Amino acid sequence: MTVLVLGNGGREHALALALHRDPSVVALHCAPGNPGTAAIATNHAVDASDGDAVVALAREVGATLVVVGPEAPLVAGVADAVRAAGIACFGPSAEAARIEGSKQFAKEVMEAAGVPTAASVYCTTVDEVAAAIDRFGPPYVVKQDGLAAGKGVIVTSDRDAALEHADGALPAIVEEYLDGPEVSLFAITDGVTALPLQPAQDFKRALDGDEGPNTGGMGAYTPLPWAPDGLVEAIMRDVVQPTVDAMARRGTPFTGLLYAGLALTSRGLRVVEFNCRFGDPETQAVLSLLDSPLGAVLDAAASGRLADVGELRWSDNAAVVVVLAADGYPGTAAAGGRIAGPRLFGSDDAVSILHAGTALSGDDLVAAGGRVLGVVARASDLGAAREQAYGAIDALDAPTLFCRRDIAERAASGLIGTPAL
Ligand code: AMP
Ligand code: GLY
Repeated sequence: MTVLVLGNGGREHALALALHRDPSVVALHCAPGNPGTAAIATNHAVDASDGDAVVALAREVGATLVVVGPEAPLVAGVADAVRAAGIACFGPSAEAARIEGSKQFAKEVMEAAGVPTAASVYCTTVDEVAAAIDRFGPPYVVKQDGLAAGKGVIVTSDRDAALEHADGALPAIVEEYLDGPEVSLFAITDGVTALPLQPAQDFKRALDGDEGPNTGGMGAYTPLPWAPDGLVEAIMRDVVQPTVDAMARRGTPFTGLLYAGLALTSRGLRVVEFNCRFGDPETQAVLSLLDSPLGAVLDAAASGRLADVGELRWSDNAAVVVVLAADGYPGTAAAGGRIAGPRLFGSDDAVSILHAGTALSGDDLVAAGGRVLGVVARASDLGAAREQAYGAIDALDAPTLFCRRDIAERAASGLIGTPAL
């Protein structure tokens, strides 16, 4: 098959790498892609959110499958445009992508499906937010209703900070605070059948020790050595399958990747958020361990044949991804910083460096975004994978980039207790 991947982040580089490993993928294209994907695919300077341009490109390159990476093109209806042109597409319709595009819509679906989530109030004014946060008490959780690239949420015990955030985030959702470790579980679905990937944990805060503002994600690891037995089965039974069924009943079947972000609280598992696409950076770690052929699986999902695909196969290794972000991120990120060092355009058995916000300036690789690189390492356990990842980072010369130094540290040291299900 000929596959066109839409997007230009670390997630899309990871998707392209996994598709490249699938022998049934004979040609691989990205739009727009990045300097990393250019090493394994043909990049095209086409806006991923422009449905007409994407369809024209898909026809020109003879794509038999289009894989949509980011949420923005999905919410804009690009998957609908591709399917209307008669080309198989992995990614939900605009209607179904609202499960990420509107937090309030996601709450309505969860209520209809009986899926456990945080109690919440929808607010259109700061006064309503003030009343709601006073009702729930601290820590306060205020979320912008619409898309915000991972930056629309504040979790704080500072009431003034919560209200200030709300002022720029209306309409907003105020939620009860959820304690307990978080899990990201991705499920591939054709709208009826759903197939789980291996669960991962993501690090949302910018700084070590979960300090600093929320970001799109600063690192991730998989598998979860502390996970309770039956975790994936419980999430599929209580969250993913009921949601897939509820979306079908509404007449907006969800096909593509349903991302369940969960908290394993002292009162049981709760959905923190749904996303309508692969998570970034969890995907970089998760797909690095996938032994099944990704192209064949995504194609089966896109064409309603997922029931024919058996369980996915995984390497026994552990994987860690550490994100290198440009100074200033998640605020205004410094652009143009030079990046030099080994493995920037290739990988070995243990380490891959995935590009996100990078660009070429002459022969130099430079920073051109918030999250710039994701260093993925695979090893027999998380501790060894951490060593490999940080060793590869220390070998880079990238003075304008920073990373967290504690990705997967507590899990590798056995410091995360196993929550009850
Ligand atoms: P979201 O975009 O909804 O995933 O929120 C981003 C991050 O904020 C999550 O990954 C959590 O770390 C945190 N968060 C969101 N909602 C809650 C909540 N109700 N209680 C505690 N933390 C939350
Ligand atoms: N890593 C969180 C996300 O992709 O939304």
